[in-house]
Amino acid sequence: MITPVILCGGSGTRLWPVSRRAYPKQFVRLLGEETPFQATARRVAGAPFAAPVVMTAADFRFIVGEQLAEAGIGPGAILIEPAPRNTAPAILAAALSAVASNADATLLILPSDHAVRDPAAFRATVMLGMEAAGKGRIVTFGITPDRVETGYGYLLLPRDAGAVSPLAGFIEKPDAARAAAMIAEGNCLWNAGIFLARADTIVAAFAAHAPEYLAPVQASLDGARDDLDFRRLAPAPWEGLADRSIDYAVLEKAANLDVVRYQGHWSDLGGWEAVWRESAAREDEVVAGPRCTAIDCQATLLRSDDPATEVVGIGLSDVMVVATGDAVLVADRRRSQDVRLAVTALKEKG
Ligand code: GDD
Ligand code: MG
Repeated sequence: MITPVILCGGSGTRLWPVSRRAYPKQFVRLLGEETPFQATARRVAGAPFAAPVVMTAADFRFIVGEQLAEAGIGPGAILIEPAPRNTAPAILAAALSAVASNADATLLILPSDHAVRDPAAFRATVMLGMEAAGKGRIVTFGITPDRVETGYGYLLLPRDAGAVSPLAGFIEKPDAARAAAMIAEGNCLWNAGIFLARADTIVAAFAAHAPEYLAPVQASLDGARDDLDFRRLAPAPWEGLADRSIDYAVLEKAANLDVVRYQGHWSDLGGWEAVWRESAAREDEVVAGPRCTAIDCQATLLRSDDPATEVVGIGLSDVMVVATGDAVLVADRRRSQDVRLAVTALKEKG
């Protein structure tokens, strides 16, 4: 069996004003009927996957419980991190706790902010990595890049890469010039952010590359207490941990990485541009949701999440308009990554 570990403790500021601190993007219906978190859990529901372990923050615990119940999926465990410290400690906590109950556990680490159109193809690709994972490799999943993107990690392929092949390098979030150079060379894939590995392989990778996390994360697990359906990690050892993603803490340094190419459709719902892309079939398409009217617009997203607000766009090109009950975003579509600046600016205003 493979145990899915669903990471859903992030805050998703680039999807403001719909994604909020108390209710971030992974729990919001961005596309269709299911939230990205529910779609992630459904993608790995049933054999050969065990019930998922969910890693999240205290503020989201009831949302997680409700959304799993609504999707009809029972969790294996819901672990509560005492403070957000990014994905490195969350993944280590999941790995240490898995090793304690099953020395042979294999984990599939899953972010909860992705759109994947073909779950069966996704599961088949995961299975291609099982043999390598069994041999102590950390298996990454690579997406063929179709643009210069600075929000992703890049996987460097060796010259003669096969279906499953060792990685020649891992570069997290390069600047635009470096990303463009790698794409021009033609020997790189985007890191999908999904990893398959034995739990003890993950623990060993931390011991080699980020050993400072081991003792405090273990102490947090040792001091954990049950609270209703949740397991709360002990706060004191956790709070002193450095805020670092698994990509920077471990993967950029590890030598035992493999990659499986994922051929199906995949998107990180990182910003409104990505949400627009998911719904638009053509580069000039207007995506206008309920209560929205577009007149002579192109390559534009209009969205109203407030039942009392109509949104009308006239003569717009490459614009995103997103209205909620208490805020309206109007932005250049190509500045999607900068929406986090709105959140910073509003925080400063108090
Ligand atoms: N439990 C928990 N705790 N989850 C967290 C935390 C945390 O402190 N911080 C972030 N997450 C969750 C987010 O909710 C998201 O589902 C996932 O971890 C990944 O975090 P992101 O912040 O979305 O990462 P990213 O998109 O910038 O970069 C990662 O994913 C890219 C592909 O989507 C990297 O792995 C990149 O290399 C990769 O290309
Ligand atoms: Mg992401």
